[in-house]
Amino acid sequence: MGTELVSAKDIYNIVRRTMGVMDAKIQLHGEITGYIFYNMLKAEGQYTSVELAEYVLLGMLHDVGMFKTGYKEGISQCETINVWAHSIYGYLFMKYLSPVGDKAEIILYHHLPYKLHAQIKSKYMKITQYLTLADKMDVFMRMEGHGMDQDYFQRNCDITISSKAVEVFQSAQNSYNFMDRLKSGEYQKEVENLFGAVHFSEKQKQGFLEMLVYAIDFRSQQTVIHTMSTKTFALELGRLMHVSAMDLQILYYGSLLHDIGKIVIPLSILEAPRRLTDEEMKVMKAHVVITDKILRGIMDQRIVNVAARHHEKLDGTGYPNGLEGGELTELERIAAVADILSALYGKRSYKDSFPPERVKEILQSDADQGKICSEVVKAAVGHYDEIIQNYERQRNETMERYIDITNQYDSIYARFKEYEGVMF
Ligand SMILES: [Fe+2]
Ligand SMILES: [Fe+2]
Ligand SMILES: [Fe+2]
Repeated sequence: MGTELVSAKDIYNIVRRTMGVMDAKIQLHGEITGYIFYNMLKAEGQYTSVELAEYVLLGMLHDVGMFKTGYKEGISQCETINVWAHSIYGYLFMKYLSPVGDKAEIILYHHLPYKLHAQIKSKYMKITQYLTLADKMDVFMRMEGHGMDQDYFQRNCDITISSKAVEVFQSAQNSYNFMDRLKSGEYQKEVENLFGAVHFSEKQKQGFLEMLVYAIDFRSQQTVIHTMSTKTFALELGRLMHVSAMDLQILYYGSLLHDIGKIVIPLSILEAPRRLTDEEMKVMKAHVVITDKILRGIMDQRIVNVAARHHEKLDGTGYPNGLEGGELTELERIAAVADILSALYGKRSYKDSFPPERVKEILQSDADQGKICSEVVKAAVGHYDEIIQNYERQRNETMERYIDITNQYDSIYARFKEYEGVMF
């Protein structure tokens, strides 16, 4: 386990840090909800530690839909009144983009009052009740500032929350006294230890990260496509350059995460239908600094560098650090070319896709000027059609998922509309 490139604990830490960069309140809320949820499930004694770790992540990410919907009216408002938009997006992200798609209903129904549960057919309703209790515990007792020991739960028993959930909560508290560890902050170490002791498959690790990345990108269709295409191009170019299997993995993680820092860039800049002003460009350039900040100290340094150096140029004119050729590894050079290829080939809000000859020309001219690696460009230009063909297949899949999620959102929202505005 110690030798794997990316561990379950790394995944947990990336999720945590990314959410923290987005909004410290959402991150803390997710973390506390996840911890209460975890203790309740642990008290039931029927889950493996891998399952428990997955549920902790699910708990941490239960409000991930807010990445898409925003929360201008305040998190508390989204958690008590306008509850459906983020529940539905969270559900769709979990269902279509994560490795725990079968459990996505837990997210969809986390704001459905218990008295309406009988209308729903899902094998996860009991676990949903636990998440609802954990969520409300944090919203009402901490965020809304009512203190942790009021009789909210007794009063709302079998109305918003189930008595079964209250029972399990109490028995978990009796066994583990976890509320004390929550208050003292000791819980953080405990959760980290849990992740340190479990092993996630490559599919699980990639699935959770892809969900995180696409949930962030989902604000903007062109960003979703850009991340996917950069990753695909980087892997294609890596193969053509005959890098090792380990290096391909580094390229995969680095290119998947390269624009994760865009989480802080406003949509008005990400989707500007024109070239950016100097001021906006400055903001945009910060995304690589944020990418570095999110990944540094967690991910393997080679992955961090592939991700955070994709705008550096061999002649020292790139950003953020103006590194030069000698300082940039082969993998970093590949990722930089993949990023440019994606930008040139892809449609952007300010430009159409360039025809193949034009793309090749620009790449070649950048290489001739000593900005990007000519070996990598040679591979890209020489195998252009095959690279693009492979990419187009994946692009169609990604687009279909994107459109599917958007359409399903509308139809599910229509179903939940009758509950909108009711205080739960
Ligand atoms: Fe929520
Ligand atoms: Fe919540
Ligand atoms: Fe970038």
